[in-house]
Amino acid sequence: MMEDITRLDSPIDVMVLMHKAFHALSLRVEGLAAASEKGGDLTEFQKGFEFWVKQLVYHATTEDDYMTGPLKNSQPARDNETEHVELVKHATGIVEFLGKGDTAGLEANVKAAMITMDEQQHEELVDSAKEIQEILTREMGRDKVITRTRRHLYRKVMDMRILEFDHFENEEAFVCSLVRDQMSEQQQLDLVKRLLVDESAEDPRWVIDWVAEELKPNERQLLADLETRFAGISTAAD
Ligand SMILES: [Fe+2]
Ligand SMILES: [Fe+2]
Repeated sequence: MMEDITRLDSPIDVMVLMHKAFHALSLRVEGLAAASEKGGDLTEFQKGFEFWVKQLVYHATTEDDYMTGPLKNSQPARDNETEHVELVKHATGIVEFLGKGDTAGLEANVKAAMITMDEQQHEELVDSAKEIQEILTREMGRDKVITRTRRHLYRKVMDMRILEFDHFENEEAFVCSLVRDQMSEQQQLDLVKRLLVDESAEDPRWVIDWVAEELKPNERQLLADLETRFAGISTAAD
């Protein structure tokens, strides 16, 4: 179980609250997939799954554009993208190192590689969601979704949830610490506003309202306090 958050020292610390909301939603959807193994209608699972994917895709693409994107530009000595990918392939030892939450000794190009990995993990998550979506589109029209398919579906959803949890752990241990070091308070407020408020949507609050719902009252208050801090910032134009 994730621990309670009692304060946000930097605006980016709200990431942990957002990831908490994803934890709750993912486990709920996984529970629906597990329950559907016994038979019955898949509609509730499908609705939950689609909402999860919608939130996850918005979260990941906003991070790619406004979090890891700018961080990469601020790495003057960074190598090209291909080298990063190569490096990541050999970086398992570093991942273990990061698991301890200590990023101090990392070289700049390794840091850049970890950022690239963050973006790659987003792609993997989307691929995983697409596979599940394909099973659903294929099966939903049939009169009876067989037990084996349901088991397969459950397994895929669990895999995706594990991929997501691992990704959050990496991001919190590595990327968030870079944001804390390299982005000003104002830049962080701009970033977290984009993550929480979708100005392009008919209902711009579709993310923040959902996150609030998933949180405990004291954490909800932290989110509300943060919102008053970024409320005045305009993110409409790039
Ligand atoms: Fe995130
Ligand atoms: Fe992410």
